[in-house]
Amino acid sequence: NHYVVIMAGGVGSRFWPVSRSNFPKQFIDILGTGKTLIQQTFNRFKDICPPENIYFVTNENYRSIIKDQLPEALNENILGEPVMRNTAPCIAYACHKIAKKNPNASIVIAPSDHLILQEDAFKEAIRESLELTEKNDFLITLGIVPSRPDTGYGYIQYKNSSPFDNFYKVKTFTEKPDLELAKTFIASGDFLWNAGIFVWNANSILRAFEKHLPEINEIFVEGKIYFNTVKEIDFIKTAYMRCKNISIDYGVMEKAENVYVRPSEFGWSDLGTWASVYDVKKDKDYVGNVIIDSKKVVMYDSANCIVRTPANKLVVLQGLDGYIVVESDDVLMICKKSEEQEVKQIVADIKQNF
Ligand code: GDD
Ligand code: MG
Repeated sequence: NHYVVIMAGGVGSRFWPVSRSNFPKQFIDILGTGKTLIQQTFNRFKDICPPENIYFVTNENYRSIIKDQLPEALNENILGEPVMRNTAPCIAYACHKIAKKNPNASIVIAPSDHLILQEDAFKEAIRESLELTEKNDFLITLGIVPSRPDTGYGYIQYKNSSPFDNFYKVKTFTEKPDLELAKTFIASGDFLWNAGIFVWNANSILRAFEKHLPEINEIFVEGKIYFNTVKEIDFIKTAYMRCKNISIDYGVMEKAENVYVRPSEFGWSDLGTWASVYDVKKDKDYVGNVIIDSKKVVMYDSANCIVRTPANKLVVLQGLDGYIVVESDDVLMICKKSEEQEVKQIVADIKQNF
């Protein structure tokens, strides 16, 4: 009865120039561990359920990358999207599809591009959540103790007492607050970050879609007769054109009343930016430099840098402190680590002009 949906349709623009829209970060070994992020994600879930029950939702263009990187994945479990419409349509499609096969399915929804260091603690959190959703109409999310007022996350406030071990009813869910609000949340001490990993029963999530995003829900209710037929691809093409662009967080989690959180600790990182990769890398040199993949790097008077360049290239740094130096086949980018938020805008400008 257990299913997993891996969301792999994002473009990872803050990891430019290594992550590109034709080959985004979930398909890259961003940490230099020998496995790409989606391979790590898939392996983690193989202990939860068999590959037949693991689904992927991704852009149709990335289907072949998934097949290359994960030969065990079933082709019919790779759900291709014609366009990006954020996570709500992606989840609606996958959950309707799984529900058609197994109306009582308990489903884990997971991003394809996160780092989880303590795999056992993670699997325990997932197993407990799956068990709880088998009998309860709950939308469960995993919550992480926050360490800074980051505006890129959802914030969860919850009731302290609960009849369920490890699970608490959510009072408020605030997706991506502004900095001032995020600071208030952190100061108050009773908020968690939303890890973006959800667990629910097929019935519960489809009811939640019906209530909070009826216009998206109806599209898939109408179209589910085409699932697993030759007409599915054509249906999905038109269906996605009709879906609005909205995330599950804004569309459902902020509004639903049956949300529960499991405060969790499993060495989680969203790996959103180069600086977050820098932070999680433990193998820094004595002045805090991190070198990924690059085999020949010579540094003079340089500290706190992250370098990721092709293995065959000699790289020499002199007098740099706190810089990102990353190179792909056709682009070299050198950027101050503390100002990496600029990268998203820079990439947008470059796309227009080059
Ligand atoms: N298939 C598909 N289609 N996948 C998508 C799409 C899409 O249109 N858009 C995003 N994804 C995938 C991404 O590849 C990623 O794995 C996951 O869905 C989450 O999307 P992000 O775009 O990375 O979301 P976010 O990081 O801004 O915010 C979410 O995650 C945070 C934790 O990392 C929210 O759930 C926040 O509340 C949460 O704190
Ligand atoms: Mg993310």
